[in-house]
Amino acid sequence: MSQQNSSYTWAGRFSEPMSDLVKRYTASIDFDKRLWRQDINGSLAHAKMLAKQGIIQAADLADIEKGMAQIVAEIEGGQFEWSLDLEDVHLNIEKRLTTLVGDAGKRLHTGRSRNDQVATDIRLWLRDTIDSIVELIKAFQTALLALAEKEAATPMPGSTHLQVAQPVTFGHHLLAYFEMTQRDKERFLDCRKRANRLPLGAAALAGTTYPIDREFVAQQLGFDGVCENSLDAVSDRDFGIEFCAACSLLMTHFSRLSEELVLWMNPRFGYVKIADRFCTGSSIMPQKKNPDVPELARGKTGRVNGHLVAMLTLMKGQPLAYNKDNQEDKEPLFDAADTVIDTLRIFADMMGGIQARPENMRNALAQGFATATDLADYLVRKGLPFREAHEVVGSAVKAAETQGKDLADLTLAELQAFSPLVQSDVAQALTVEGSLSARNHIGGTAPVQVKAAVARAKQRL
Ligand code: ARG
Repeated sequence: MSQQNSSYTWAGRFSEPMSDLVKRYTASIDFDKRLWRQDINGSLAHAKMLAKQGIIQAADLADIEKGMAQIVAEIEGGQFEWSLDLEDVHLNIEKRLTTLVGDAGKRLHTGRSRNDQVATDIRLWLRDTIDSIVELIKAFQTALLALAEKEAATPMPGSTHLQVAQPVTFGHHLLAYFEMTQRDKERFLDCRKRANRLPLGAAALAGTTYPIDREFVAQQLGFDGVCENSLDAVSDRDFGIEFCAACSLLMTHFSRLSEELVLWMNPRFGYVKIADRFCTGSSIMPQKKNPDVPELARGKTGRVNGHLVAMLTLMKGQPLAYNKDNQEDKEPLFDAADTVIDTLRIFADMMGGIQARPENMRNALAQGFATATDLADYLVRKGLPFREAHEVVGSAVKAAETQGKDLADLTLAELQAFSPLVQSDVAQALTVEGSLSARNHIGGTAPVQVKAAVARAKQRL
């Protein structure tokens, strides 16, 4: 047996060393060292429980605590040497602890396995990550609400099929994203509930022969309770899949907003200006200002969706209980979280850098017969059945289009040619402001309703 191999935790059982390629292939230290703090906190809670239960001595606990404090200082100070030979974050920290405090370090792993250890670490990490994401969603929503409030009465074309449909206010349009991100927040918090349970005590898969106190460890680590089944505790990553699904949906919402910003920035729309700090120029075309940030958010959505599919695929063929496949959960989880966090940060900032261009929104409205439904509703109020009103207005639109006019540009006499029910009060129905203010109910686009919705949204935050 080589000298090098004897340093392995499981050297006793093996008669030849691992090749460098296998070592690199099986190691996770390059990415799971990110879990060091969770790993140490989990170990400290476990050690405390072992001491409380008389499984290790109080002196061992004191040594473990002292050693861990030094390891924290070393990692924070950048002096800790991570070793590929020690495979993962758990073995790296345990080995260092043993070097620092001797036998007490070797006793830490009593009644525990890396299987329940890693499941605990990820759940702790996910819990903190969700808390950060929820705070960032709130920061984005705060910036969004400020813009929505400012533009609560600014008319813009509302679209279906990307064609002008009916007037809405820009504020109302923005508030749609408040609702979407509000549900995103709920999804993350819901996922947190199921993630926040303690796997430790499951040991490798079947539980342990020591008289452990799992409830105590759960309480120490702020878990809501313990995982009830040891096999499930070490093997499932459904909470991670749920997290990725919540990330995918959030990114999908930001991707839609991004697509709209890209369109709105195009001079053909010209609905908004985005502050220069979120755009880039072209290396060849001097005139260009490109909406790179929204484009990238749209693109990164694909990558996050990929992580969700990776996590689902990773899980689907695994027999119970733990399999090394699960080591592959970390990179998708970390990257999904990083991408969501960066996207939220940048969008929270970018909302303050968006400037509406109301004149262009209004011009676009004047070109799409946006108040045609209002004319039909007007005729219905005068007694015409809706289907007939629809047909009458269709003919009026066709005629106006031939003359290159908007409905509001037709004279009273011209309108009366389509229906004798039209009277002088039709003017109010055909204006953008009239159209907007008529949609005066909860969830509608009337400026008073949008202002009230912003006020309620601030409460809900
Ligand atoms: N690095 C491993 C992971 O991420 C830790 C658990 C390893 N357990 C084992 N039995 N090999 O899943």
